[in-house]
Amino acid sequence: MKIEVFAMERMQSTWENLVEFNLSESGVHPMRVAELLDTDAERADLLQQEICYTQSNGTIELREAVARLYPGTTVDHVEVTNGGSEANFVVCWKLLEPGDEVVMMVPNYGQTLGLAKAFAGTMHDWPLVADDGARRWRPDLDRLAALVNARTKLIVLCNPNNPTGARIRASELDAIAAIAARHGSWILSDEIYRGAEVDGQETPSIWGRYERAIVTSGLSKAYGLPGLRIGWIVAPPSFIASSWSYHDYTSIAPGALSDRLARVALAPARRTRILDRTRAIIRTNLPVMTDWLSAHGEEFDYIAPEAGAIVYVHYRLPVNSTLLVNRLREEKSVLVVPGDHFGMDGYLRIGTGSETGYLRTGLNRLRELLGSLAAEAGR
Ligand SMILES: Cc1ncc(COP(=O)(O)O)c(C=O)c1O
Repeated sequence: MKIEVFAMERMQSTWENLVEFNLSESGVHPMRVAELLDTDAERADLLQQEICYTQSNGTIELREAVARLYPGTTVDHVEVTNGGSEANFVVCWKLLEPGDEVVMMVPNYGQTLGLAKAFAGTMHDWPLVADDGARRWRPDLDRLAALVNARTKLIVLCNPNNPTGARIRASELDAIAAIAARHGSWILSDEIYRGAEVDGQETPSIWGRYERAIVTSGLSKAYGLPGLRIGWIVAPPSFIASSWSYHDYTSIAPGALSDRLARVALAPARRTRILDRTRAIIRTNLPVMTDWLSAHGEEFDYIAPEAGAIVYVHYRLPVNSTLLVNRLREEKSVLVVPGDHFGMDGYLRIGTGSETGYLRTGLNRLRELLGSLAAEAGR
């Protein structure tokens, strides 16, 4: 089976550790092990952890911790995976067959797009609408109703959305579920940015709204723990029982150390502290970003993100986004994501989750490059 190149991950994997300023990340600056484990007892426990094959779908304790986040679920609704990306992979692989159709919220993280095209063959874009009046990116429910038909196996959401940072409202999720129910389509909602809201109001989940709802998520974004590679699937127990056997073919099990550290992270008081840290970083840095944008207001427009450490910016310079990003990397050693990677030239996705000084310097360098490009364009 052929699969298209996942352009954004390929670019990040190639360059993120080579540039001086990596503003291509969508999560917050990662935590250190020492910050996560703040008691001697927890450190001692970690050192005693056998480096074994752990429970392959996640330890019961970890699945209980995940189940606490989704009302009405038990450990049998949860499968722990290596990152949100393995969760998405397993769900798409299990569900999609040639001849199926997928309706994909766009713009979106490119993984499910590539998987949908490879496994199912037919994918329909379902674009979020930039609603200037409401200053939000919103789902177009009429359009969704027109796209979903009897062949629609899966509707894919990303909520909060990467790259726009948009949050889908509870009433909109109910309407999406009602449209899916007309043809018995599954809904996959990637909720990995849930918990990283700027205003602290947790994004509503698709969970509990529809019997064929599947949530994927993990610790990489809202928790600032991407190196643990811990993600999960939450779905009806019969789905999980079957998807677990797909997981046997991918990575078998999460890492034993990661499972232990994830249990620590999801203990209720610790979880609250971690999400507070994330929101504090986002609230500190978002104004740095928006002040920078306002200072050059005639060159940009954007809708402020509701969640996530990202800003999706439309720029007016007549320069292709991949070309702009390549020049920025080559000339200024700064990495951001071009709109081309989301099928939207003229945009940049800029990560705001790093240390504030680092962000400022990266933005100053972007400013310098934009100055050069404007001069070249005779502006
Ligand atoms: C929406 C979304 N889902 C999943 C992932 C991948 O998550 P992980 O690093 O946990 O595999 C990303 C990473 O950027 C993402 O943006």
